[in-house]
Amino acid sequence: MDAVAVRPGPPLSGAIKISGATKNSGLKQLAAALLAPGVTVVRNLPPVADLEVMIAVLRAVGAEVEWAGPEELHIDTSARLIPEAPYDLVSRMRASINVLGPLLARCGEARVALPGGDNIGSRKLDMHFRGLHAMGAELEVSHGFVEARCNKLKGALIVLDFPSVGATENLVTAAVLAKGETVIENAAREPEIRDLTAFLNRMGAHILGSGTSTIRIEGVEGLVPCETEIMGDRIEAGTFLMACGIAGGEIELEGVRLEHLEMVVMKLGEMGMRVSPTPDGIWASAPERLTAVDIATLPYPGFATDFMPMAIAMLAVSEGTAIVTENVFDNRFSFVDELVRMGADVRTEGRYAVVRGVSRLSGAPVRALDVRAGAALALAGLKAEGSTVVHEWHHVERAYPDFVGALATLGADIHRV
Ligand code: EPU
Repeated sequence: MDAVAVRPGPPLSGAIKISGATKNSGLKQLAAALLAPGVTVVRNLPPVADLEVMIAVLRAVGAEVEWAGPEELHIDTSARLIPEAPYDLVSRMRASINVLGPLLARCGEARVALPGGDNIGSRKLDMHFRGLHAMGAELEVSHGFVEARCNKLKGALIVLDFPSVGATENLVTAAVLAKGETVIENAAREPEIRDLTAFLNRMGAHILGSGTSTIRIEGVEGLVPCETEIMGDRIEAGTFLMACGIAGGEIELEGVRLEHLEMVVMKLGEMGMRVSPTPDGIWASAPERLTAVDIATLPYPGFATDFMPMAIAMLAVSEGTAIVTENVFDNRFSFVDELVRMGADVRTEGRYAVVRGVSRLSGAPVRALDVRAGAALALAGLKAEGSTVVHEWHHVERAYPDFVGALATLGADIHRV
């Protein structure tokens, strides 16, 4: 059951509920739960493959983790923690590195395996390490692990070279228990960072400026566990908006905020879609064929790199030619070869892709190289003659709890094979 088949169908129509952002927000809050001894309750956390890995990481470091409902997890961190995240788990999921800051802050030491690169780029961790070092930690990388140690972390001024999401999260979750004030300049501004810091503040942390480029954290002596509800997944919402852009139609998405998708909505508008907010989400309609526009990915509030593969699928069947520039990852165009096998006219060179729209693609067996690449190929299948079979679908299941069910509810011809 590791493949999905898609055929072109009628324009999309109907309403779906957008899932909680388990991968990009939930996992980070689970890691942060390690900071507060006691039971943390996490809601709106639909199970995806990466969640299983994070649960295994939490258990490996000594937390007790139990499901209390279909999307509600209880994490008990009362016991003494074993601050070591093993390679077999970290290598399966990069977000495991998010336990580094909390373990170091709570235990004074941490040993975490290095995740390495993946199918979208080299994905270094230098900013995580430099920031923790500035807070007084001693770090050593050897035998594929980072070992960090400190008596008590101390506040510091940290200027990031690039607004890295992961580095901002790790440094904030370390700084909350440091002595004195930490200031992170050029911090990431993604909504998931705000979701995390709101949770930390409810635990008793003193964090100001989250969602801006300067985050100030006044360290506190200790945190107390609390309840948290994970935000709606803006990347899932953007994916289904782009599905509508490709297939045409009129859809409604519930449980997501349009302001988290402003740049995407602006681009979709330029391409010919109409998108507007509803009391609890987003309404969108798309004509039969969109018009191409240029796109450059950037950290939030720019056009998110996670949308880029789906945007290329959309441009591949739009009217006209577009240039897509990938500014965040150094190797995120590999999936384009799969799209070309479906008849797309895309040329890539370094950070650039030139996409010349064709009126229809041709269904083919293709392979998902990563989560968003797999989603993009399935969307392309909505406008590809015959059947498109996306193999290695497990990549998509790392982030989307029910991609197939959601698109089928909107009327798409999609099923597992
Ligand atoms: N970078 C460094 N040094 C560092 C940290 C990052 O050079 O110390 C570089 C990376 O190599 C990359 C860029 O900075 O080129 C951005 O990396 P960032 O740290 O912002 O990304 P991340 O935290 O590893 C998260 C998401 C990604 C998403 C990026 C950017 C999660 C679990 N992952 O990764 O999500 O693309 O932020 O928004 O939240 C996805 O959902 O498909 C996905 C890959």
